[in-house]
Amino acid sequence: MTGTPDPAPRPVRWAGEGLWITFEGGDGVGKSTQVALLDEWLRERGRTVVHTREPGGTPVGTLIREIVLHHRGHIAPRAEALLYAADRAHHVAELVVPSLERGEVVLQDRYLDSSVAYQGAGRVLDADEVRGISMWAAGGLLPNLTILLDLDPSVARQRLDGDDKPFDRLESEQEEFHVRVREAFLELAAAEPDRFFVLDAALPADVIAQRIRARVEGELGSRS
Ligand code: TYD
Repeated sequence: MTGTPDPAPRPVRWAGEGLWITFEGGDGVGKSTQVALLDEWLRERGRTVVHTREPGGTPVGTLIREIVLHHRGHIAPRAEALLYAADRAHHVAELVVPSLERGEVVLQDRYLDSSVAYQGAGRVLDADEVRGISMWAAGGLLPNLTILLDLDPSVARQRLDGDDKPFDRLESEQEEFHVRVREAFLELAAAEPDRFFVLDAALPADVIAQRIRARVEGELGSRS
């Protein structure tokens, strides 16, 4: 088998109506809390917010999420990468782009950076190939802003251990896997400093929320 789907589209930052913000980071870094806090803050300011996630932001995506996160047996790495990409293709086409075109703010828990970091970190797949597949799936579209919550995986693991939820397939991976995921996210952020806003997720949640609001206020100001 050879390389990525051809032609892989060139990356394009969303430049139309609305505002598209994705949240990234390892498991247990506190993403869900921060997405919910930003959602509330934006709604209080009269914005129409679409709070969504990958995998699973659409009815089709919910079915795919069940397979990729809860299937008990082995899934071949290429099949796993394609399942995330299929979820993404449908999500971007059916929910994200239409919402943005209506001028809404899309807050999205995970996007293609998660595929590069997680599927690439398995070491079986080449990160550029994984990215190419996702770029093809998403028509090359990148968000206006990506908020990366960065945390030492051993601290994140302690937070997850405190939850009652059973671990999904990815959360059950060994510590070295999560260390590679963290490094991959930081490399992605360093490569695209304009798009990424990196925050230390060990800070108190209200401090992180405040910094995110300040950054988002700037983004909203620059487009009104
Ligand atoms: P998430 O929804 O953040 O988990 P939870 O709701 O259980 O806190 O993410 C689900 C898992 O999916 C997470 O371990 C990362 C993984 N994932 C990938 O491996 N590749 C991807 O492309 C995406 C979007 C997620």
